[in-house]
Amino acid sequence: MQLLLGQTIRFTADPFSNPLTDSVTHERHGAVAIENGRIADVGPADDLRSKHPQARVTDYGDALISPGFVDAHVHYPQTAIIASWGKRLIDWLNSYTFPEESRFGDPDHAAQIAETYFDLVTAAGTTTTVSYCTIHPESVDAYFTAAAKRGLRVLGGKTCMDRNAPDTLQDTAQSAYDDSNALLERWHGQDRLSYVITPRFAPTSTPEQLAALGALWAEHPDVLMQTHISEQHEEIAWVADLFPGARDYLDVYEHHGLLGPGALLGHAIHLTDRERDRIREVDASLIHCPTSNLFIGSGLFDMQGLMEQGHRIGLATDTGGGSSFSMLRTMAAAYEVGQLRGHPLHPAQLWWLATEGSARALHMADKIGTLEPGSEADLAVIDLSSTQAIAQRAARAEDIWQAIFPTIMMGDDRAIKAVWANGSCLRS
Ligand code: GUN
Ligand code: ZN
Repeated sequence: MQLLLGQTIRFTADPFSNPLTDSVTHERHGAVAIENGRIADVGPADDLRSKHPQARVTDYGDALISPGFVDAHVHYPQTAIIASWGKRLIDWLNSYTFPEESRFGDPDHAAQIAETYFDLVTAAGTTTTVSYCTIHPESVDAYFTAAAKRGLRVLGGKTCMDRNAPDTLQDTAQSAYDDSNALLERWHGQDRLSYVITPRFAPTSTPEQLAALGALWAEHPDVLMQTHISEQHEEIAWVADLFPGARDYLDVYEHHGLLGPGALLGHAIHLTDRERDRIREVDASLIHCPTSNLFIGSGLFDMQGLMEQGHRIGLATDTGGGSSFSMLRTMAAAYEVGQLRGHPLHPAQLWWLATEGSARALHMADKIGTLEPGSEADLAVIDLSSTQAIAQRAARAEDIWQAIFPTIMMGDDRAIKAVWANGSCLRS
């Protein structure tokens, strides 16, 4: 048994629907016990030391032992084109994204980018990612191979597109179904890997392809399905043009069997009331990508309103539309988006979103995203005084949230003291 000592915060309830005092416990001198890849115990350090006297102890001092971050929407193939200047969504896809994604039929290129990607995200304290790969099955193999090597729990799937993309990036309705099915059979449930059925978004799929993927999902209802919805106004108008019979954007997905409790809907900024109600009714998940929404100029996600309505919401970087690999920077951007909407999110809400909230959005909160005993031991150990700027502000903190917030707003990979995955130390 391993015993990690440090500060801990544990959510006993969702801090959006419960007062803070009822939803979090903080241990100034806490401990997390790990055995066989799982969290075996959590509580005050003194208690756990006397309960487990034989355990090997790693003392992280004042650092915060957190669940590893869960990034619920990324495009790992866009790693090398992150921070590309000056375009809105459709132009950005055509100018930067599609040319880069075209290279992923080459297994060496895919493997090299997947390695770089997981080095970058684990350095940022992220232990679970949910990625769009490219249309090439090789890109999925590279992603899952690199994750399995590191013992990570990750999710992902082949991005399907059979129109409105370069020829080199198009599959067909039939090949999207066949390739997705073969990849699902190969990877889903292997190690800690989960397949996700992945139509990119309505504009790049024909109705036939959406229906084929809807049929595949109906055959495998236990897997998740991810796509994009209502990110920019131009995109919404394009969808209305392409699918004149649909009531709205969401209706396109629903009509083709692509709406259900396991749907992960990325962005979801400009939803109509009907769409919001229907998504809530079926309990699909919304994935908020704040750095991307600011970087591509998409708009301001209505976190407060959607949470009040009872939506299931995860947080994500959306690299490389998002401008950072770090969930700390992503929490900061979520805070800033909240400010622009007049609803500043509390640090507890931000931290919950980046861990348990995202895990809930993936229906995996029984496995990841918390420090609960029985959970898989994926952890990020956070130095709350990692730079001079942060340390001098944190020194004035009057409570744990004031101690954490400077790291949320100004922290980067220097704040990540150690990362544990599946009970083993991955980085320190
Ligand atoms: N919509 C469809 N594809 C993409 C993508 O790769 N990134 C973003 N941000 N939005 C999309
Ligand atoms: Zn995306």
